[in-house]
Formats: sequence, C-alpha cells, structure tokens
Amino acid sequence: MPSGAFADRGADLELVGIQKRFPGFTAIEHLDLVIPAGSFFALLGPSGCGKTTTLRLVAGLEDPTGGRILIGGTDVTAQKAYQRPVNTVFQSYALFPHMTVLENVAFGLRRRQITDALGKAHEALRLVELDHLAARKPVQLSGGQQQRVALARAIVNRPALLLLDEPLGALDLKLRRQMQLELKTIQEEVGLTFLHVTHDQEEAMTMADTIAVMNKGRIEQLGAPEQLYELPRTAFVANFLGQSNLFTGPVVGETSTSIAVDIAGRSIVVPKTRSHRHAGDVTIGVRPEKLTLHRDKPVHDSGHNVMGPGRVTDVSFTGVSTQYLVSVPGVGVLIVFEQNRSFGPVEGEGDEVWVTWNVEHGFGLDDDPVAPDPRFVADTSTKSIAAQRRAALVTELEEA
Ligand SMILES: Nc1ncnc2c1ncn2[C@@H]1O[C@H](COP(=O)(O)OP(=O)(O)O)[C@@H](O)[C@H]1O
Ligand SMILES: [Mg+2]
Repeated sequence: MPSGAFADRGADLELVGIQKRFPGFTAIEHLDLVIPAGSFFALLGPSGCGKTTTLRLVAGLEDPTGGRILIGGTDVTAQKAYQRPVNTVFQSYALFPHMTVLENVAFGLRRRQITDALGKAHEALRLVELDHLAARKPVQLSGGQQQRVALARAIVNRPALLLLDEPLGALDLKLRRQMQLELKTIQEEVGLTFLHVTHDQEEAMTMADTIAVMNKGRIEQLGAPEQLYELPRTAFVANFLGQSNLFTGPVVGETSTSIAVDIAGRSIVVPKTRSHRHAGDVTIGVRPEKLTLHRDKPVHDSGHNVMGPGRVTDVSFTGVSTQYLVSVPGVGVLIVFEQNRSFGPVEGEGDEVWVTWNVEHGFGLDDDPVAPDPRFVADTSTKSIAAQRRAALVTELEEA
C-alpha cells in the first residue's frame, strides 16, 4: 500500500509549557515537546514518571493546569476528547467479546454513521494482516492478534495522531519483540504520527526514531536512540538506557581537544566534543562493551584510558558475551562486557586485570556530580550486584 493511501498524513504535536497538578501532587511541572508529523516518537521513563498523564492530556482525557496543546498547528487545549484527531491504544485492548473482529473494528465508524464502515474496517484489517480472521471472535485470537485488532480499531478512524500507552505490556517477551517490529512497519506504511509510551528501553530503541527520556515529570534528554546511548547527558539517562560505568572527579588538565579528569589518582581523558562540561567536577562515563580486559599492565598509549589493576569479582556467562565485574581500589566496581570470540570466559574470579578503553569512547555528563552512584556505595559483596541484576531480569521475564 503506498504511503498515505490509507490515512491522511500525521500531524505535528506540540506541548507548550504543560503543567499538571493533581490535588496534593504535581505530576508534570513544565513540559515542552515538539513531535514532528510522521515520526515514531517514544516517551520512555520509569513507572510513575508521568507518561500516562502526558498521553491523557494529549487525548483530552485530562485538563492541564497550565500550558497549551497544539495538533497540526491548531490549539486543541479547550477541545473535548472526541473533537481531537487522536486515538489511543491502551495496554488492555478491551475488545467487545460478543462481536466479530470485523464488527469490533467497524464499531466506531458505524456508530458515527460513516459510510462504508465495513469496507474501511476490512482495509484496516488488511493493514495489520488480519483480514482473513475478520469473522472470528476475539476469544479465538492469540494475544498478539488481539493487539493488532485493537490497533486496526484505532487506525480505522484515521487519526492524525496515534497514542500508544504500553500497548505491548500484556504480551509475552517473544511476541512483544515481534509486535515491536510489526508496529514499526505499520507506522512506516501509514505515515501517522505515533506517540508511544513505554518503560522498556529496548522497546523504545527498537521502534522509535526519536526518544524522550522522562524522569519525575520532566524530559531529561531527547534524541535519536543511538545519540542518547552514545552521548547521554545525565546519569539518569546513562543508566536508564543500558548500563554505564560512571566516575566523578575534578578536571586537572586540558588540551584544545580534550580534558583530563582525575579519578582516584589516575588521569582519564575525554574528548571535549563528547563532554558537556569542561571544568570543575565532572562525571565521566563509558559503556561496558567499550571496555577491554588485560592480564598484563598495558603499555602507555595516549589513545587509551587505563584503569587498574583491579580484581575480577564476578563472571556471568551469557552466551554471546561474558559480563565481568572488576573491582578497582579507590574507584569502585566496573562492569565489562566481552564478546565470546573463543570458547567461554577468558578471565576467572580473583584474576588481576587492567581495564582500557579508547579515549574517543568516553563521555562527560552535564549534571551536577551527585552522591556517588549507588553501585559504588561500599559494597562488600559485589556478587550481590550481579545477583540483583539477574533477579530483575528473571522478574521481567516472568512478568512478560
Ligand atoms: N488522578 C490522579 N491523582 C493524583 N495523582 C495522580 C493521578 N494520576 C496520576 N497521578 C500520579 O502522577 C504520577 C504520574 O503518573 P502516571 O502518569 O500514571 O505515570 P506513568 O504512566 O509514567 O507510570 C504518579 O505519581 C501518579 O501516582
Ligand atoms: Mg502509565
């Protein structure tokens, strides 16, 4: 289907100085956001940060305490929900059990007495590749198929803007990954503006062109997934999107292109173009997969940063890679991911190692150096960190 043949092109969404106070609680203090037409935009943040509230404001299900909402350049702040060119897909699909798939999709159109409701419903079902199941009842469908019916029901109205509130949360992990790719394909085909809310960073990274990372009712950083990952601006972003090794220290040297930061007596170099701060105390970071382990003390080389010696305190074999925890005196615990190019882990617990990384791979944060990373709190058993992380993964898998 050619792009735009089914639905009109999406519209820009603009939030200007939005504030939302509930009695006794400010969910959103001040939110400015522009989502260009036709984009797949993800609002990513932990539970309780204000994602659903933002969607409900856009949909007109909630009134802002302050600020304006514009869709396609039109101020819709005073419009009722049904007047806005917006549809929402929620986590619970709420399909009518007594109706067929086709009737579910056509329901809204029929109620508004729109001509050729069934034809349009078939068209929407073809788009989500479910037209062959149009005569079935929801109970005869899998979870993923029900999710696609809910999607067809939302796009059949040709909204300029589609809001998705954790729509894949009820699916198991594998189906969720599959649906992520399908949703992305559908969005590209119909060219609508998608605003997708999720707490799952992998989901946001897989699907969105642009991600806004939300924390405590405000946007911490906005950008393309790889941009956020490679150059996080705050410690929150650095740790919410993947994992980071973070170190804080004073800037003790400077060239025209780089700064040198003192970390427990070691000089660590970061390119100026990759650091938001160039003076005072700076928190610098590097991703675990950018680190390399060495058994022997590496020869000095201005292109690399060196930390060590340290001790391997935990080894987790994950198949594709091995995850090491390395405790470096005075610095803390580093997380290192190494690809398993040969067979199994190359270092064992208790081994003495050095850690290096290419100077170009570090980054410097913008936020005020805060209390040390919780990971660096005096922790006698670093094993517990890996154990906690594994437990969290198991919980996620069980919940999915
Ligand atoms: N009607 C309400 N009254 C009071 N507080 C609310 C109401 N709705 C949401 N909140 C609070 O606002 C915050 C953001 O909620 P929500 O937008 O649902 O978060 P998220 O979707 O990111 O998990 C939460 O702390 C929540 O408890
Ligand atoms: Mg929510």
